[in-house]
Amino acid sequence: MTETAEKLFRNGDLSDEELTALIMDNDSDVSEMIRRHADETRRKYYGNKVFLRGLTEISSYCKNDCLYCGIRRSNHDAQRYRLSHEDILSCCENGYKLGFRTFVLQGGEDSFFTDGFMCRLISDIREKYPECAITLSLGERSRESYRLMKNAGADRYLLRHEAASQELYSKLHPAEMSLEKRKRCLYDLKELGYQVGAGFMVGAPYQTAEHLVADLRFMQELQPHMIGIGPFVPHHNTQFAGVKGGTLELTLRLLGIIRLMFPKVLLPATTALGTIAPNGRELGLMTGCNVVMPNLSPENVRKKYDLYDNKLSSGEEAAECLEKLKKSIADIGYQAVSERGDYVDYV
Ligand code: 5AD
Repeated sequence: MTETAEKLFRNGDLSDEELTALIMDNDSDVSEMIRRHADETRRKYYGNKVFLRGLTEISSYCKNDCLYCGIRRSNHDAQRYRLSHEDILSCCENGYKLGFRTFVLQGGEDSFFTDGFMCRLISDIREKYPECAITLSLGERSRESYRLMKNAGADRYLLRHEAASQELYSKLHPAEMSLEKRKRCLYDLKELGYQVGAGFMVGAPYQTAEHLVADLRFMQELQPHMIGIGPFVPHHNTQFAGVKGGTLELTLRLLGIIRLMFPKVLLPATTALGTIAPNGRELGLMTGCNVVMPNLSPENVRKKYDLYDNKLSSGEEAAECLEKLKKSIADIGYQAVSERGDYVDYV
């Protein structure tokens, strides 16, 4: 396996078989080699910088019914909330004071957030904070909607593809959802000039190493600016309640491989990674990650954005504990910075 890993370090193209074997291997020496090279690669393009994103979860309503997700439509036990225009602006105000220069507005697919609502909100944020980046993560919308929001001042869009294999996608989503549509949205966003984020869960139910290779291949084609991956974590109100979650080791292996295959990508150490291991976020940062996304949502709604069990929302996950987070980033040799943190080649 060392030889396959070395081929990857030399920038060599691995075959599907080689990639599959590298994903399945769990030799800790190979993991350490991958970690070292991933770290070297991130330092080459981004130095020791870690970009901060202030995350506001604007709605827990969702019209979709993804089988694994705690805020799926058919989970009648889910607590629903949506933030107002004023609520969201005050989250940004708070975030700006704390030093965030990217605001991420994320939510379930909630038709309350019409194009009119979003465009007014985005222009207000743009006017108040001209030097900040605005990232949206609101699921699938029409190309026209994406275009209007871009014109209103949005810069980036996060939309995980979830599973690039049709077979796996169909096992994780209801029949009315379509992988083809998801991919269309991602290409629309790219064509409209957004910095685009794709991604998937690691260790999702039914997922094999071959499925993960399909995810990597799809992303090689899409060439996203950002990649969000985290372990699958079961939610008690879904059919996968008793299923095993994704492991720390496999998630780190994938993060390292992604940094090597996509050297310039913006790669967050996600909340889900921090949730499954106390030092998950730090290990992610040491394995090629260069972004963290603390929560800026009002405290009284945080627990309601309940995608999976035990989702972190306090401590270093909370934007108000930024100093503590910055210190733990500094302690492992990186520096959390107050910058927009655009993709290195973005023009
Ligand atoms: N475990 C981990 N991640 C999840 N997501 C949804 N449900 C879970 C879960 N049970 C992720 C999905 C989605 C994002 C909103 O959260 O990848 O894109």
